[in-house]
Amino acid sequence: MNTTSLPRHIAIIMDGNGRWAKLRNLPRVMGHRAGVKAVRETIRCCAEKKIEVVTLFAFSSENWQRPQTEVSYLMELFVSALQREAKKLHQQNIQLRIIGDRLRFSEKLQKQMAKAEELTAKNTGLIVVIAANYGGQWDIAQACQTLAKEVEQGVITSDEINASLIQTKLALADLPLPDLFIRTSGEMRISNFMIWQLAYSELYFTECLWPDFNALEFEKALNSYSLRERRYGCTSEQLRTDNA
Ligand code: FPP
Repeated sequence: MNTTSLPRHIAIIMDGNGRWAKLRNLPRVMGHRAGVKAVRETIRCCAEKKIEVVTLFAFSSENWQRPQTEVSYLMELFVSALQREAKKLHQQNIQLRIIGDRLRFSEKLQKQMAKAEELTAKNTGLIVVIAANYGGQWDIAQACQTLAKEVEQGVITSDEINASLIQTKLALADLPLPDLFIRTSGEMRISNFMIWQLAYSELYFTECLWPDFNALEFEKALNSYSLRERRYGCTSEQLRTDNA
């Protein structure tokens, strides 16, 4: 039973870029630009604390509905961030992975993604996961499709399908499940982010807008996590006996 005080995997919904910009009378896209800085700072903090995995929700399956200019700006931002940052991450022994249905992105962006992943694939330090055109329901659906194909091919029978088997087909199946979920900007929703994987995660919500998320805010989230008792459905007494 995991009662250690540092999370192994942190999953973050980086929310509030638009409001951050609005408060400064700036166009929304400037909020996203400022958000990149907070991404950099968060990655630095995670590496410093020896967190194993950080997953960042960069673009949801629903974000395509935003104004075309904002979507295009975000795409450009992803391309330039990948071009600029991949080498730096590589030098720090950081592994970069992207999850989500990437076929909807431009070929240029898909190529950048593959290149960044390839470059950093063998790194053994922090794993940074970018969720792009990702949705938790999409993730579960693609896992079901994979299993259905295995049934069709006679690799497994339908009776063998259970929660553990579904989990092996989800994105990031080879990594620890998120221990801590953070959402900035005061919204208290999961918004279709890793809905399966977050089943037992500790949830942390902060009013802080994403571009303002810094080392101090990160520390506050870790402190809050360290005070939680993770019971996974057991009682406190059982946990104490297990850990005795
Ligand atoms: C949510 O704020 C943020 C996004 C939809 C985009 C997140 C993207 C970044 C932080 C940029 C860079 C990311 C990487 C991985 C390079 P919002 O626009 O919904 O804000 P609002 O709720 O205040 O409108």
